[in-house]
Amino acid sequence: MKLENSKISFGLGRNPSKNYYKIILVSKGLLPKELSAKFADQIQAGIFTGELGQSLNDELNKIIYIGIGDPEKISVRSIAQQFLGIGEKLRKWESVGLEIHLGSGLLKSLSTATLVYQIANSIDLGAFPLNVLAKDFKEKKSKFGPVTFLLEDSGSEKAAKAGLEKSKAVSKYINGARHISHLPANHFTPEEFVSRSKEIAKENKLKIIVFDEPQLKKEKMGGILSVCQGSDKKAKLIILEYTPAKPKTKKKLALIGKGLTFDSGGISIKPAQDMHEMKYDMCGAAAVIHAIGAIAELGIGVPVVAAIGVAENMPDAAAIKPGDVYTAHNGLTIEVQNTDAEGRLVLGDVLSYIGKKYKPDYMLDLATLTGAIIICLGHEAAGVMCNSDKLTALLDEASLSSDERTWNLPLWEEYGEELKSDIADMRNVAGRPGGSLSAAKFLERFVDKGIDWAHLDIAGTAWRKKASGTQIGNGPTGYGVRLLVDLAEKLEKLK
Ligand code: BES
Ligand code: MG
Ligand code: ZN
Repeated sequence: MKLENSKISFGLGRNPSKNYYKIILVSKGLLPKELSAKFADQIQAGIFTGELGQSLNDELNKIIYIGIGDPEKISVRSIAQQFLGIGEKLRKWESVGLEIHLGSGLLKSLSTATLVYQIANSIDLGAFPLNVLAKDFKEKKSKFGPVTFLLEDSGSEKAAKAGLEKSKAVSKYINGARHISHLPANHFTPEEFVSRSKEIAKENKLKIIVFDEPQLKKEKMGGILSVCQGSDKKAKLIILEYTPAKPKTKKKLALIGKGLTFDSGGISIKPAQDMHEMKYDMCGAAAVIHAIGAIAELGIGVPVVAAIGVAENMPDAAAIKPGDVYTAHNGLTIEVQNTDAEGRLVLGDVLSYIGKKYKPDYMLDLATLTGAIIICLGHEAAGVMCNSDKLTALLDEASLSSDERTWNLPLWEEYGEELKSDIADMRNVAGRPGGSLSAAKFLERFVDKGIDWAHLDIAGTAWRKKASGTQIGNGPTGYGVRLLVDLAEKLEKLK
């Protein structure tokens, strides 16, 4: 499965093609003069004022005016909201280019680099097709763009180029994550995860290690092995390592992902309604292997290891049963009272292994771990449960700049109290109240002392129906890639 790069070529200057639309960004109260002549009625009636969300089409001259609101308040979110939609249009139009005019009065609240990055990223996400298995999937052959940016002054060219460079890497890997996340479990199996990881490793000269069943057994990864017992597909642990050519910090970052290519619940089987959505139960793993790809392509000077536990959770005569006890990688015995709380079994082993083997300074895990996080935060933010104020602050910053929203939740001792078992060291469930928090307390038992660790429950943000800010709607969002790239950029600046 070779994933193609963006079909769009982005650049600066006049659009070289014959067929293109000019896009003119209009901030509120700063309407271009020609507008009142062309659209006298609309302007007089106040239909177009430059407010965010408004647009006007001058079909005759192929110009689209886009309202982006108050110039003081232009944000990554507002720009994204407008341009994800433009990207979608571009895909439908085919072979149509865009020439985006970055006029005056725009850059009061965003830098040129950020503005260009955001516009290009949103267009690239919007234009990326996901219906790859449909008979009429034609986008494979068709072309979009090119898309060019016309800058107000030539002094900002360097910044604009930097924005385009960042978007090129980040968009490619977000779309890669979305692509594999959207593929169903019969098309994207644990073996496919290995292939995709190898592609990312090859593209960026990363070291890759794959543990098959014998190595998982040798390393005593009882959690991962228990989860895949009922499936005909063998589990994997996949590790990618990025060592920057020019390291700027010695601090090591580890990214861990939950990679359930399908979660039926196992013997504690899920209800039929929406079970098909559990093909998305690998979005955490997709995000981290694509984030390390983007970080490496951008040459960010932070050493990173990404590790994903990959398995399929199925009911079968051989499947793990409620009440069974296994021994995890860190030696703890775990009573599995609910086989649907499987993500924590997989992640526990990976957190323990990576903590011991790589001794990272910062360790993050991304997982579609609990339905409870959707009850708590809906689809707008990932829940963050973190043992370190420093890492919390870094994540807050990265969340703000990437507009991948996070929300901090507590890791108080009390949330772990119900994890006691009367036969083993711990059980894997603790009742419904605070379900996302007891899940985090479970994971915490696998994190070695001294590691700054954050658990991100992305069950609400990994896929969504309606777009919101930088998050594309109608399926997998690729949530996490932007956040982790920005986090790595912040870490690079720490001494
Ligand atoms: N993959 C699910 C979590 C999930 C549910 C993600 C709905 C997205 C939408 C996870 O493996 C799971 O089944 N969790 C259980 C835990 C429970 C048994 C303690 C849940 O959330 O119901
Ligand atoms: Mg489950
Ligand atoms: Zn799951």
